[in-house]
Amino acid sequence: MSLYNKLFARIYDPFMAAAERKKLGSWRRRLISPLQGQVLEVGAGTGVNFPFYRPGVEVLAVDPSKEMLAFAKKKKAALLSKVSIELLPYGIGDPKLDEHIKPASLDAVVATLVLCTIPDPQEAFKRFHTWLKPSGKLLILEHIHAQNPLRRGLEKAINPLWKVLAEGCHLTRDTDLFLREAGFEAVSESYFHLGVRWYAAELIPKSKN
Ligand SMILES: C[S@@+](CC[C@H](N)C(=O)[O-])C[C@H]1O[C@@H](n2cnc3c(N)ncnc32)[C@H](O)[C@@H]1O
Repeated sequence: MSLYNKLFARIYDPFMAAAERKKLGSWRRRLISPLQGQVLEVGAGTGVNFPFYRPGVEVLAVDPSKEMLAFAKKKKAALLSKVSIELLPYGIGDPKLDEHIKPASLDAVVATLVLCTIPDPQEAFKRFHTWLKPSGKLLILEHIHAQNPLRRGLEKAINPLWKVLAEGCHLTRDTDLFLREAGFEAVSESYFHLGVRWYAAELIPKSKN
């Protein structure tokens, strides 16, 4: 792993701190604290969501970056509440993750600030459909592509450089639309602006209604 992977993991929390205080932290709490049962958190990063899980929930938190997971381990160790969190160095697309999770076994999948980064979101959506129980939920917090044509153009222009600086993160994904196209239906959803356009939602798989 490169020096930059290590640096990115180290600066992630300080870089995000103001946005977390302003808005993201309260959205994380709102989406995550009601969860129960078996939960998969994909791309858990430094473990920013960990303090919001309630005792009793069983979380499998995965991320392909060992550098990010090293910080997640520390967050897990510092938790005050007794939440069961297993950490594994797997990403979406890794056959080891597919082997690890049984079909229709999950009560929830949590994907925060990760559908912007994973190389193939459509592959992720297929897996979420496979892994979720019929009553399962998909919790999303994500920055998405602007609607305003000027801002959209600007995001497209910045995207190639941003992807390099932010470890593969795209500014140009219409993740809310992708989710609908992939057969997810919002039980609740909100859009807000924080530097860029954001989407927060609780969704269910349509085919499992
Ligand atoms: C911007 S960080 C978000 C971290 C955390 N979810 C949060 O809400 O702050 C994106 C994370 O996605 C992870 N990632 C990259 N490719 C992935 C993949 N194929 N599957 C799962 N996670 C991946 C990265 O290692 C990184 O930790």
